[in-house]
Amino acid sequence: MTTSASRPVFAILTALVEERAGLHYGPGEQDVFLERVQTRSEEVGFESLLDYYYFLRYDPGGARELDELIDRLVVNETYFFRELEPLRLIASQLIQPLVSSGRRPRIWSAACATGEEPLTLAMLLAQAGLLSQVDLIASDISQRALEVARRGRFGRRSLRYGIDSELATRWIREEGDRFQIDPQLIEAIDWRRLNLCVPEELADIGACDVVLCRNVLIYFREETVARVVEQLTTHLKPDGVLLVGVAESLLRFGTALACEEMNQVFLYRKLSALSSTQTGSAP
Ligand SMILES: C[S@@+](CC[C@H](N)C(=O)[O-])C[C@H]1O[C@@H](n2cnc3c(N)ncnc32)[C@H](O)[C@@H]1O
Repeated sequence: MTTSASRPVFAILTALVEERAGLHYGPGEQDVFLERVQTRSEEVGFESLLDYYYFLRYDPGGARELDELIDRLVVNETYFFRELEPLRLIASQLIQPLVSSGRRPRIWSAACATGEEPLTLAMLLAQAGLLSQVDLIASDISQRALEVARRGRFGRRSLRYGIDSELATRWIREEGDRFQIDPQLIEAIDWRRLNLCVPEELADIGACDVVLCRNVLIYFREETVARVVEQLTTHLKPDGVLLVGVAESLLRFGTALACEEMNQVFLYRKLSALSSTQTGSAP
């Protein structure tokens, strides 16, 4: 479908999407991107992509439709027990000591897709008797993904990389070709639709002990990553910790966070004024 004539339309549409949600598309993604936008624009009655673009950019209803379009563009790829060791570490090494010292930790899974990540963490916390002692928030830009999360019914793909049988036996029930997650876990999570690139939307998150932002920064350009990480940092308590995906690193950004290794898991800690004078901050 794409021709050289599509290139300017691709350029203005991707710029608009990136401005709103941070998602960056390179030239190699032109065909897939334009096909998805075309499908959505036809669904809402536009005959040309250019008309659709003008609507998105200038019409009073444009911002709302742009969010609907973005919901159809995002990759909600996730599964249960993904990158499990860092989640185990959060439960046993970060949350358990805070609870033991009489505090109520606040945890935010900041791009949770269909919820498998915060639900896995909820299983680990429940197993350790900690779930009722924490605030667990899970957010994503995709309303459609959050609807799946809130229903708690998943297909085989959500368990495709194997299961932790102890957790699965306790919290996941097989129903035909679907899996139902124990409603207790779903209800223990505060699900919210939030765009990480709009700071005002994040204002109510409050100060967190742990923020998970895994496997989403890869979709952003470097300057967007830097901006989002800065935002996330403002939502960390002193000594609070940010976790990114195991294949992601923030070292090249020179953030206000110190990189630490704990049981072979890398995490980024917001230094309190005292500890920063003692240990120095990350490059
Ligand atoms: C690949 S999934 C990662 C899910 C989970 N964190 C994991 O590691 O399995 C990336 C998620 O980031 C979300 N996302 C993309 N841009 C976003 C933005 N600007 N604000 C909030 N969420 C965003 C997408 O909707 C998608 O659900």
